[in-house]
Amino acid sequence: MNNAARTPNIQLDANGRLRHFLSIEGLNRELLTEILDTAESFAGVSERTVKKVPLLRGKIITNLFFETSTRTRTTFELAAKRLSADVLNLNISASSTSKGETLLDTLRNLEAMHCDMFVVRHGDSGAAHFIARHAAPHVSVVNAGDGRHAHPTQAMLDMFTIRRHKGDFSRLKVAIVGDIQHSRVARSQIMALNTLGAAEVRIIGPRTLIPPHAESLGARVCHDLEEGIGDADVVIMLRLQKERMHGALLPSEHEYFQLYGLTDKRLEAARPDAIVMHPGPINRGVEMDSQVADGPRSVILQQVSHGIAVRMAVMAMAMQTQGGGA
Ligand code: CP
Repeated sequence: MNNAARTPNIQLDANGRLRHFLSIEGLNRELLTEILDTAESFAGVSERTVKKVPLLRGKIITNLFFETSTRTRTTFELAAKRLSADVLNLNISASSTSKGETLLDTLRNLEAMHCDMFVVRHGDSGAAHFIARHAAPHVSVVNAGDGRHAHPTQAMLDMFTIRRHKGDFSRLKVAIVGDIQHSRVARSQIMALNTLGAAEVRIIGPRTLIPPHAESLGARVCHDLEEGIGDADVVIMLRLQKERMHGALLPSEHEYFQLYGLTDKRLEAARPDAIVMHPGPINRGVEMDSQVADGPRSVILQQVSHGIAVRMAVMAMAMQTQGGGA
């Protein structure tokens, strides 16, 4: 028996329902579709005068962000508040972690305060899995981005945005452009697109920013931007992850933009109705110019809005296995 067959998927409970949300890996199309459908049912809550539902009243959700974040942390907080949960934002730099307390001791103390869910962003790949393995049985863990490994809620809000604009995934050609090597977002997007049955996933970038054996991720590799986005329905631009680059992987940002930066002229290679996405934060003039970022085909700010509904869905589904939620 191989390891995968022997080891139960810790993301799922005995009935196959979501308990933790750590990675797209190991989740099937039905479950990803359930997340998208549940998010659709929550999308209207943001339009109401009273932007709340009572689903997680009495639950405590703690944001544990060991890395910087604008979009993910705030939309998780809004999502939890819209579900009527109480939210704690632990300021890591001002917490006892800075006095030498171990991560596990921090967790034990938060569990002693009866926290029901940890939303974790960490610079180390595998950090969210580690916390999930050591969390108390009543606690759910959601990965808000770990190292280069995974950013599953980002991938799901991207899938939600694509589905809203394009419907069925089975006819879609999706191009993901830029720093694939250091991108947890790209890894999660590629897995989600393949699980949801996208017709073709392409990754485009310089050789130094494409991981070895990239095809094994389930994507066609291309090094020329216009060829790679040719006839694409969806063009996803990625940020250069300079904080994770060691050594000179690029001659300069100016040269990168000349070769891989998205402009209106280059976008003509994609389908006329192609949408342009970016997980943020954008480096204008590096990954794309402002005409594209702010142009009619950009859905970048919609991605941010959709993050609230998708994170509500993930939290509600994971809490369902703990006696709350959807
Ligand atoms: N997309 C994303 O993860 O953005 P933040 O780093 O601002 O959370």
